[in-house]
Amino acid sequence: VLENRFVRHCVSIDDFTESEVLELCRSALKKPPAFRPIDPAKPAVGLVFLEPSTRTAVSFIRACQRIGLNHVLVLSKGTSIEKGETVEDTLRNLKAMGMGSFVIRTQVTGGLQGCRDLGLGPVVNAGDGVGEHPTQALLDLTTLLDLVHWDEGRLRALKIGIYGDLRHSRVAQSWSKLARKLGIRLTLMSPEEWRPAWAVDHDWSDSRSAIKDQDVVMALRVQRERMDGPAAAVTEAFVNNFRLGRRDLAEHQRLMHPGPINWGVELEPDWLEDPRSLILKQAEMGVLLRAKLLEWVLETKS
Ligand code: NCD
Repeated sequence: VLENRFVRHCVSIDDFTESEVLELCRSALKKPPAFRPIDPAKPAVGLVFLEPSTRTAVSFIRACQRIGLNHVLVLSKGTSIEKGETVEDTLRNLKAMGMGSFVIRTQVTGGLQGCRDLGLGPVVNAGDGVGEHPTQALLDLTTLLDLVHWDEGRLRALKIGIYGDLRHSRVAQSWSKLARKLGIRLTLMSPEEWRPAWAVDHDWSDSRSAIKDQDVVMALRVQRERMDGPAAAVTEAFVNNFRLGRRDLAEHQRLMHPGPINWGVELEPDWLEDPRSLILKQAEMGVLLRAKLLEWVLETKS
């Protein structure tokens, strides 16, 4: 459809060029989105969250509040989605009631392509099954850009290691695409049973011995709700071999985690006060990055 050719979406990291990624993250830090009063005449943002969420949902809400957009939050519980209404029908009705863009989290991997093809307005992926979570990878990148004081050379030179349940992690898959786009070296570490097909694009190891070589170590949640028998069976061995405590990282190394954290599983519960942890910084950056992203898909400037 001709009209759709000019609509920007954020369904995958593939929707961005390298320079768009850097411009978005840089401007989130250097030119933070302006606070604007709500304009009730503007189309609202429909936030459709069909899986549990704290950080992602709240930071999109805070992003809307910051840049003066009304929002409506639709959860699966208590709505007609429980009665079997399709996401597509929900979106058509939200559009009819004055929503102009859609932030969607779904349990269906790849499930946002259909939403995008409806042509109702920009679609932003807030996590699709074990597919992608592009805004999480982008806010992580913003956090790292802040860490290296906006120096793109230093950013690209960072050695980043991701360990944990890679197979079920949409965050990790978006990171894989982002790292390839920017030429950042990623090292992946997990038990064999949790190795995803896309790991072939990076260094992968079934031990965590490479952790000491990384500048930044990203822990992932063990996603028990997505695991079948063989994958679940290695959890205990994973905890024994990979669980990371404060003593395991050197002074110059940094820790990240997209949240929610299983304390005592992927991380020992002693990280909360550690200055090497960027975990709350990630949550803080999420609001800025998502506000910029909404402006980008809506093509409004602050
Ligand atoms: C992640 C998600 O939902 O994909 N969390 C998040 O959005 N910050 C990771 C997870 O669920 O473990």
